[in-house]
Amino acid sequence: MAGYIEQIEKRRTFAIISHPDAGKTTLTEKLLLYGGAIALAGTVKGKKNSRHAVSDWMEIEKQRGISVTSSVMQFYYHGNCINILDTPGHQDFSEDTYRTLMAADSAVMVIDASKGVEAQTRKLFKVCLLRDIPIFTFINKMDREARNPFDLMEEIENELGIGTYPINWPIGCGRDFKGVYDRQRREIISFTANNGSREVEKREIELDDPELTGLIGEELRNTLADDIELLDGASYEFDMEKVRHGKLSPVFFGSALTNFGVEPFLEDFLRMTTPPLPRRSDAGEIDPFSKNFSAFVFKIQANMNKAHRDRIAFMRICSGRFEKEMEVYHVQGNKKMKLSQPQQLMAQEREVIEEAYAGDIIGVFDPGIFSIGDTISVPGKVFRFEGIPTFAPEHFARVSTKDTMKRKQFVKGVTQIAQEGAIQIFQFPGAGMEEVIVGVVGTLQFEVLEYRLKNEYNVLINMESMPYQYIRWIDSPVEDPAKLNITSDTRVVQDLKGNLLLLFTNQWNIGWAEEKNKGLELSEFNTGSKDE
Ligand code: G4P
Repeated sequence: MAGYIEQIEKRRTFAIISHPDAGKTTLTEKLLLYGGAIALAGTVKGKKNSRHAVSDWMEIEKQRGISVTSSVMQFYYHGNCINILDTPGHQDFSEDTYRTLMAADSAVMVIDASKGVEAQTRKLFKVCLLRDIPIFTFINKMDREARNPFDLMEEIENELGIGTYPINWPIGCGRDFKGVYDRQRREIISFTANNGSREVEKREIELDDPELTGLIGEELRNTLADDIELLDGASYEFDMEKVRHGKLSPVFFGSALTNFGVEPFLEDFLRMTTPPLPRRSDAGEIDPFSKNFSAFVFKIQANMNKAHRDRIAFMRICSGRFEKEMEVYHVQGNKKMKLSQPQQLMAQEREVIEEAYAGDIIGVFDPGIFSIGDTISVPGKVFRFEGIPTFAPEHFARVSTKDTMKRKQFVKGVTQIAQEGAIQIFQFPGAGMEEVIVGVVGTLQFEVLEYRLKNEYNVLINMESMPYQYIRWIDSPVEDPAKLNITSDTRVVQDLKGNLLLLFTNQWNIGWAEEKNKGLELSEFNTGSKDE
């Protein structure tokens, strides 16, 4: 047991979020490179290949050419043990992307300097806000033409509603990118452009050093002096408490591709983040440093093989130390058990582990007993961690079986797949299960549903997409849903627990419903509290 406190203190567990193409993969690779976890980042090998090598979990996914799961990478850097939770983007975007954020203690938001805040950044950011976790901003691609840094700060503050505190400040951009000014150390780290594949040269020089003009030119020097004066006078004070609660985001400028600003970012990030934080449960906050092991399931990965109940449950360890073969207690299943084949991903390798600590993520073999949000503790310590919210789906389809004789398998299939959290299903009030409304966060989930129903349940389906884009849970009591004053293209549905929801085709209709129905309370996330 000795040393477990030190082990937990070393842990930093965070997720990187971004809109596709902002540079999340590139930044992740560079971070892994610093940890020595991979020999060379993707700049040497074909990048597309290396991307798969680094972050794809399962062989089967590679064969199918999709990444259904988000992966976890662990590496050591200057005595810290760092767990990076990857949040898939692009077409792979799904509810898992959101759930992964439930397992993180902080988030790094990567923004493309020429684009600013984009759609997916916004969505993921909202989920971070639910958790009050620290959010760090890395403004990437400064080696390309970029927007004015003041405008970028303003956009983040206005669009996302979080304060910003630039830790460093860019000097020029694109061809004229000369480096960054470190506001705390009050020195310049200069950037020398190269072919983009190597780490750039760095030089540290103070603002009033006469050599500076020679290095960055008079114009940029003057702009920098003006910018810094403005920043020192006008921007937020640096307040660590605000950072810790996700109210103020430390901002870093850099260029992941050329490896500029990545290591200083990592160092400051480690300095400003904390070891695993306490987690809320129905027995109060659970101290990560407690001797007793505890964890919660945030993701279940079906193995896509025909023996349906062969799955991996991903758990975030919230307290104590996990040992292979130890006896644990599955609270929701009311059972003592051993977690079988515990495994972890160390950069490229997926390996069976002997031990793990609060902050770590482990994947265990799941014979079909775990559900998203389940608590695992030790025998004699029974409590439940706060549930994982149900996220609002954005794509909807009517789904029914092609062969009415297969109705039973269809119902079983969609219900089980929904219980696993791979899709959400709804019904029109009073209607049967011959046809369900499937809601998903990313359209890939539809493909997974179709594939799994065919392969695991032997059911072929009809799927017809529906025009709805927004869903809201009705939080206030409704006597008769038919009497709600809603637009003709808004539909009332219910989930499997009987909770009422509204489906909308546009945001304007949401406003209409709220305005025309006194006391109607709608929410975008279902935190699960009313299911208990
Ligand atoms: P993502 O995971 O957020 O989707 O982004 P990813 O890292 O894959 O980066 C998207 C594209 O942006 C890649 O180019 C990548 O090389 C480039 N990129 C990332 N960081 C920087 C940067 O700091 N500066 C510049 N100039 N480019 C950057 P691609 O051509 O789409 O991919 P590839 O062909 O290089 O693999």
